[in-house]
Amino acid sequence: MRFEGKRAVVTGAASGIGRATALRLANEGATVLVGDIDAEGGAALAEMSAGRIAFQHCDVTDAAQIEALMATADAGGGLDLLVNNAGAGGAREKIGEIAPEDWDRTQSLLLRSVALGIRYAAPLMEKRGQGAIVNISSVSAMGSGYAPIAYSTAKAGVLHLSKLAAADLAARNIRVNAVVPGFIVTNIFTSSVGVPAEQVEAVKGAIAAGAANAQPVKRAGRPEDIAAAVCFLLSDDAGFVTGTHLLVDGGMLIGTRPSWDPDMPGTMSALDAFR
Ligand SMILES: NC(=O)c1ccc[n+]([C@@H]2O[C@H](COP(=O)([O-])OP(=O)(O)OC[C@H]3O[C@@H](n4cnc5c(N)ncnc54)[C@H](O)[C@@H]3O)[C@@H](O)[C@H]2O)c1
Repeated sequence: MRFEGKRAVVTGAASGIGRATALRLANEGATVLVGDIDAEGGAALAEMSAGRIAFQHCDVTDAAQIEALMATADAGGGLDLLVNNAGAGGAREKIGEIAPEDWDRTQSLLLRSVALGIRYAAPLMEKRGQGAIVNISSVSAMGSGYAPIAYSTAKAGVLHLSKLAAADLAARNIRVNAVVPGFIVTNIFTSSVGVPAEQVEAVKGAIAAGAANAQPVKRAGRPEDIAAAVCFLLSDDAGFVTGTHLLVDGGMLIGTRPSWDPDMPGTMSALDAFR
């Protein structure tokens, strides 16, 4: 019960990583307010939580709705913990083709929303004398090939924002960190991109089978893997951790090759051929 007596806000928690995080926080004693645009998913989550989780409609691209979400948390007794998680894939076009408004829409959903979440949560946490914030980034912040450019750029922004906000808020006893998920099987690859409801579970199953081979750890990443890392960073166990990130990718960024690959062009074995 690491979060007994704590009050949390989690955005984008009607589904996937946010949902698993809200459930884990609630199971460990927190009272959780979920903000999401998916009223059906949010209501279903609240219903199964025995009063520990409440839902409020919140579109994180709208500053007033983020402010209203935090105000609800404040009115209910204050705010200790925030997870800025809401997101979707955003614009898919390459840099030579993307429309300015699509770029802006993606940054608003994935980066501005995180800045504004911190903006409206920090004064409430200051009133409580402490706070902890975790922002969800992505491996796409760290290299090419993982996601579209607008999404990846926003997620890289989330990492730097987390560091700078940590520097600004340390004096107010508020910690800020990021979690960097690898490939996690969620609705971001199904309903979020238009897969019909009746096909979602089958498509997720197919994705999970492929995802088992996407990284050195030979199983698909699960929302609960990310929730565990988020909850560590929110907890007092991480009381001396701020301004950094935790990579939870099953080893995806180190890649699937062994430490030395003799078949790699330009390695010693290739040179050996000329001896
Ligand atoms: N699944 C992955 O492989 C992966 C990897 C790296 C990072 N992430 C990030 O994790 C976070 C959660 O994604 P997920 O994989 O759980 O996907 P998901 O689709 O299961 O959940 C995303 C949630 O965000 C909500 N949402 C979307 N737009 C919103 C808006 N404008 N306002 C409020 N809520 C909104 C959705 O309704 C949904 O409940 C996202 O920020 C995503 O970019 C996911």
